[in-house]
Amino acid sequence: MEIRPTTDGELDVFVDTVHAAFGRFPETPVEGGGLWWSALETDRCLLALTAEGRPVGTAATYPFELTLPGETLVPAPGVTAVGVLPSHRRQGVLRAMMRHQLADLRARGEFLSVLLASEATIYGRFGYGPATYTQRLTVQRHRAALAPSRARSDHAPDSGSVEVLRRAECGEILEDVYDRYRRTQPGALSRPHRWWALRAGQPPISPAPRYVAVHRDADGVPDGYASYSIGEPDNTLTVDETITGDDAVFTALARFVLGHDLASRVVFRHIPPQHPLHWQLVDFRAGEVSGDMDWLWVRLLDVPRALTARGWFADGELVLDVEDPFLGEHGRYLLTVQDGKADCVPTDRAPDLSLDVRDLGSVYLGGTAPSTLVRAGHIRAHRPDAATLADALFRTDRAPHCLHWF
Ligand SMILES: CC(C)(COP(=O)(O)OP(=O)(O)OC[C@H]1O[C@@H](n2cnc3c(N)ncnc32)[C@H](O)[C@@H]1OP(=O)(O)O)[C@@H](O)C(=O)NCCC(=O)NCCS
Repeated sequence: MEIRPTTDGELDVFVDTVHAAFGRFPETPVEGGGLWWSALETDRCLLALTAEGRPVGTAATYPFELTLPGETLVPAPGVTAVGVLPSHRRQGVLRAMMRHQLADLRARGEFLSVLLASEATIYGRFGYGPATYTQRLTVQRHRAALAPSRARSDHAPDSGSVEVLRRAECGEILEDVYDRYRRTQPGALSRPHRWWALRAGQPPISPAPRYVAVHRDADGVPDGYASYSIGEPDNTLTVDETITGDDAVFTALARFVLGHDLASRVVFRHIPPQHPLHWQLVDFRAGEVSGDMDWLWVRLLDVPRALTARGWFADGELVLDVEDPFLGEHGRYLLTVQDGKADCVPTDRAPDLSLDVRDLGSVYLGGTAPSTLVRAGHIRAHRPDAATLADALFRTDRAPHCLHWF
């Protein structure tokens, strides 16, 4: 078995192999890979070939930027197009590709990688842990009233406006709004310009046509959008993504879709767990949460660099004993956080927590409490208050969330 980067002339072979591995894909292969794969860079696309030179497996990475807690932007290779032909499965092809890919990423100087998993049972063994979550909130329109704010006495009605854009008007507006949003949202990924350009400004999350409602502030500057469609059953209005870093703008966009005549219910397809919108409903039970699932998985390749890169919101000190079974590595680190910044150095001190690198990936963005993984029996706490201290340290100001599909 040989694993090597795809050459420039082989992109079609790569895409053909991915499509055959998945058995179905939104787009048939065309010369140059087609729209779907147009943001791939061939030297980041790995092909697995048999001794006879037959391509049987693929794996690639997109060069994304990830927003960490504390609004720090870091390079984050996004693993994609992972597939092995049905005829060659369960023979270790994926395992060999993962090993090759992680070594390649390290050689490029990366300290973490991310992916979305087609099945939640595949990637833990390679050191990836689920780090952001998403869920669906379904609201019946006849019970959809939103309560006014009770906390802010100065709460003024939204001084901005919402309008539906025609496709030709989307242009760079959405790309610009998305880019500003993702820079402040922990867990969010950059989106390659080429995807926006090729879809004439439509959000790239779905190949189906969508309507876009854009919110503008009092000065007319776009500061949020919701993309949505209306369909079966019973005129369900489905919101694919609501993009804004501002809660008041989110509320204005939610009011807009909830006020849409002819829709019987509104489904917000991707909101983070515990989203404030649910609490804004006058009738809490009018909001039905479903489709709770993992979204972005994180794999740390360099623990000290990763831990010092993110922002922190509480001071403290923890000794972490980290096992990395897939790469056959082990490290014990003293993590010291002061004034929002961390120091992380090797240590011989007795550990507070022993954990697998996949669990560190899960808690890294603040979306999973270390105490949950202690209670689940994944992380070992060596003293009674270690889990509470770890919860306080890893917690973030804003729940991480990723809307990007790749
Ligand atoms: C998932 C896929 C890439 C696995 O490839 P593969 O070459 O058969 O995997 P390997 O033989 O290297 O298996 C490595 C390990 O993963 C496990 N594994 C592989 N596929 C799995 C799956 N779908 N579910 C659970 N475990 C799986 C194997 O049992 C093996 O376990 P071990 O570590 O205990 O030995 C392949 O089944 C495939 O192409 N599926 C369809 C496309 C897809 O879902 N791709 C993933 C996109 S995120």
